[in-house]
Amino acid sequence: MTDTPKLTKRLSVAASYARSGAFLADIGTDHAYIPIYLFKKGKIRGAVASDINEGPLMRARANLLRYKADGGITLNLSNGLDGIEKFSPDDILILGMGGELICDIISRAEFTKNKNIRLILQPMTHPEILRSFLSENGYSITDEAIIEEDKIYQVMVATYTGESCSLSPMELLFGRLNLSQGGEALVSLLKHHREILEARQRGRQSATANADNPYEDLLLSEINKKLTDLTKEI
Ligand SMILES: C[S@@+](CC[C@H](N)C(=O)[O-])C[C@H]1O[C@@H](n2cnc3c(N)ncnc32)[C@H](O)[C@@H]1O
Repeated sequence: MTDTPKLTKRLSVAASYARSGAFLADIGTDHAYIPIYLFKKGKIRGAVASDINEGPLMRARANLLRYKADGGITLNLSNGLDGIEKFSPDDILILGMGGELICDIISRAEFTKNKNIRLILQPMTHPEILRSFLSENGYSITDEAIIEEDKIYQVMVATYTGESCSLSPMELLFGRLNLSQGGEALVSLLKHHREILEARQRGRQSATANADNPYEDLLLSEINKKLTDLTKEI
């Protein structure tokens, strides 16, 4: 029997952004692997593992008992961040949900507008919608990563500063920091989106109706340009 759960690369990268000594809120916890892992490793002082559904919380409870972590982690049944403020979390994880749902959860929780709270987010879809929401609502993205395992995932870290900014279409989709950091996972993600956009472009070209999409065409040419630049660097 192992004394901590084994984290996938996606969960491991997200967990690495939790601060030492933090009290963690894991929203949509399901298995509760990250709170258990970080608590058992002594990195966090405690956590609330929260979910909207009973089934995932039963899984979380079984894991707390299995890994003997029930002393430091409280289970909570609620929608998003409802009722979480009373735990005064330092770091909030919202992983494995759609980008729009993550936006909705944050927008309903005014208490996250606090420069001491760190949001660690991993949207399964629409990272561009999440980045647009964050940047327009005063949350600064302070760190981000692209993780390639069974799929390609993006993790972003944000804190409320009150300063809004506007991101380009490339920055919304791939992340300003990711684009400046480069790397193989970025190349894979760019290629993935190039394939999608090329297929859509072919579909438009074969359609009889005029279905121009200058936005997607421009994005595709910027992706190609970035891929050329990155290939030169390698
Ligand atoms: C795909 S699982 C992700 C589990 C884990 N966070 C991970 O990334 O591996 C999504 C979880 O979010 C929960 N969930 C969905 N909507 C939610 C909401 N509005 N508030 C809290 N939890 C939610 C689901 O019940 C489910 O357990």
